[in-house]
Amino acid sequence: MPASLRAHYGWLLTLATPQPQRLLDVGTGDGRLLQVAADLGIPRRVGLERKRRWNPANRDFDATIADAQRLPFPSDTFDCVVENESLEWIKDPVRYLQEATRVCTPNGHILTDDTDWDTLVYAAQDTARARRVLRAFCDTGPNGWIGRAAPSLMRQAGLHDIQVHVRVITEREFAPHTLGHRQAQVIHDWLRQTGDIAPTQLDDFLADLHHTATRGDYLFTLNRYVCVTRPTPQSS
Ligand SMILES: C[S@@+](CC[C@H](N)C(=O)[O-])C[C@H]1O[C@@H](n2cnc3c(N)ncnc32)[C@H](O)[C@@H]1O
Repeated sequence: MPASLRAHYGWLLTLATPQPQRLLDVGTGDGRLLQVAADLGIPRRVGLERKRRWNPANRDFDATIADAQRLPFPSDTFDCVVENESLEWIKDPVRYLQEATRVCTPNGHILTDDTDWDTLVYAAQDTARARRVLRAFCDTGPNGWIGRAAPSLMRQAGLHDIQVHVRVITEREFAPHTLGHRQAQVIHDWLRQTGDIAPTQLDDFLADLHHTATRGDYLFTLNRYVCVTRPTPQSS
């Protein structure tokens, strides 16, 4: 796991205090958040994925295959419900947030953690090409503005007293184990598939990042919009 991401997940989980005892991670993917939760000593960890064939490596959490819009748990089951970068893929995110509210205990925490793709930054030499590539990635994904939309989605789901944090993940190293390196490859592969940018431009974009890094000028920043609330506001 990229060190920058591990640090981010560690910080994210401190927003739910006291430390949760029963954590649900929706749209778990390869289970990186739950790995950090285990390291922090959170005892009951449940991951949920819609993928039928889902078998993350080194799994040490309970795995459930289901749709986030219909969580297969009784009310008040978890004291923390979290998602990372899944909200934009869920067809009806408000419905998901209502379900998260149902399965969360009244004084538990609901966390969302989503990248705003329109504010992704790579230092590159060819600024016009970098801008074209990043804009195309933002605009062809399911919802490039999900980060800034998350507080409104929570409000539409009937949640109140929403704290909003913007955490900037920053890297200055460009290497296969870094988040920025992996993300650049995701952008390359995604746009190869959509056909919105010519393949040579995409290859040149990656080469540009390598050259920028070789000169010591590389910088990557990614804005995670984090919303935190409780099903029952403490003030009520
Ligand atoms: C971009 S990945 C993020 C994975 C992981 N949370 C992370 O941050 O590394 C989004 C994940 O959400 C899952 N997902 C999308 N829609 C879903 C749904 N309706 N119900 C459950 N999982 C869903 C996808 O299968 C995918 O694994």
